[in-house]
Amino acid sequence: MQLFARKSVDRLVTEASEGSGLKRALGRWDLTALGVGALIGAGIFAATGSAIAGDPAVGRLGAGPAIALSFVLTAVTCGFAALCYAEFAAMVPVSGSAYTYAYASLGELVAWIIGWDLIIEYAVGNIAVAVSWAGHFRELLSHFGISIPAWLTIDYRSAYQAAANVAGGATDATSVYLATAVSDAPRLFGLPVILNIPAVAIVALITVVLVYGIRESATTNTLMVLVKVAIVLFFIAVGAFFIRPANYTAHGGFAPNGFAGISAAAAIIFFAYIGFDAVSTAAEETRNPGKDMPFGIVASLIITTVLYILVAVVMTGMAPWQQLGTAEPMLTALQQSGSSTRLLSFAQFIIALGAVFAMASVLLVFQLGQPRIFFSMARDGLLPSWAAKVHPKFRTPHVTTILTGVFVAVFAAFANINEVVELTNIGTLFAFAIVAAGVLVLRYKDPHRPRPFRTPGMPVVPIIAIVACVYLMIQLPTVTWIRFIVWLAIGSVIYAFYGVRHSRLRRGGTA
Ligand code: ALA
Repeated sequence: MQLFARKSVDRLVTEASEGSGLKRALGRWDLTALGVGALIGAGIFAATGSAIAGDPAVGRLGAGPAIALSFVLTAVTCGFAALCYAEFAAMVPVSGSAYTYAYASLGELVAWIIGWDLIIEYAVGNIAVAVSWAGHFRELLSHFGISIPAWLTIDYRSAYQAAANVAGGATDATSVYLATAVSDAPRLFGLPVILNIPAVAIVALITVVLVYGIRESATTNTLMVLVKVAIVLFFIAVGAFFIRPANYTAHGGFAPNGFAGISAAAAIIFFAYIGFDAVSTAAEETRNPGKDMPFGIVASLIITTVLYILVAVVMTGMAPWQQLGTAEPMLTALQQSGSSTRLLSFAQFIIALGAVFAMASVLLVFQLGQPRIFFSMARDGLLPSWAAKVHPKFRTPHVTTILTGVFVAVFAAFANINEVVELTNIGTLFAFAIVAAGVLVLRYKDPHRPRPFRTPGMPVVPIIAIVACVYLMIQLPTVTWIRFIVWLAIGSVIYAFYGVRHSRLRRGGTA
């Protein structure tokens, strides 16, 4: 039964306040900016295209113009999950996010599993974002006439795929460029050396900012958020002039693949909604978490949802939906819309710039969140205590920040983006479902505890959140499920050999 021993909320909060050493420097708008920072990124700038058009290679249907409804569907799921996060984040303002909430409600084993699972959301998610960032950075540099050798900017799988495409007759500029990675790469023991240096560089740069200070990190994030929101608004404003209403109905109707297409797209664009929960990892650096946490979580989700739906409506009004299935759907929409060449080249530059800023802030917020979750786990004894060290001068969890940076950078150097996005989605949906379940359990087990924010519509809201998250998980392919289960199995072995023996809760008796 010890496996299910829960740590009381009081004990969690006391241990967190026993001089955690972190600096309380953030207010409600900093938190909102952190949320928007984590939200708007590769999801809207890249994944939307394939969600609209579908992916015949894996038999996934596209939503067509009804992508706006996919965004609404996912927003409702995430909205309900966000209300659950808000209750916990205000009641248990501890930096471990879902991990800590599970510890308080469902016990140590589930807490460990979620802590381990959150690595998929934060660190593995960031590997995908770093790779996507590098692609857009390459595009941005090309506007200045700068070209990096391909073998220094992609992964093996993309390089060999491009080489195969070219051998098969492809002549588009991107394939031709990427294929040079295989031919031009230097050889080490006969093998070509192909790695993504820009992805490594951006992760390294962000790690330095994060070690330096929470205030500096939040300010850097806010600046990047302002730039990216401005650029998303630019796309909406310019694109609105090129809407042709016929595009909404003329190519198979508004929802050409019906609800099947809408829900398949929802599971993909879920990636664009990952991040409002990352706000909660800054709980111990927030001046007034009881009020500001719910505000930051909910406000960032609302702002982003409005922007996403506008982008979706404009994008599918600009071009026939079948043509939008590219990695840069905003640019494709502009190209197809019949805009003038001058406007097009200006817009291309602006959107590449927006994507670079957007993804850098996503990276920043997740690189900020992951170390704080490790930090909480180490404080509870489930990870070694050196991981809970705080830098004496900068007052940041520098050990875990650097470790996270190294982990993400090493994998980002070699990873292929498609392999990691779906894994991130499944891991995050799982965490959302557990948090919603935790809210229910704690309302029942500890009904009188003061809750600065109460999830409305109990018990319907968390139940819908759980059902919707599981539904979206089911939409994901079998291979993703296998990877996910293997990951959790590895985590369970580590817990059995380390966590069980070192847990502070066990050593100190149940709380
Ligand atoms: N929501 C983040 C993005 O779309 C993860 O990049």
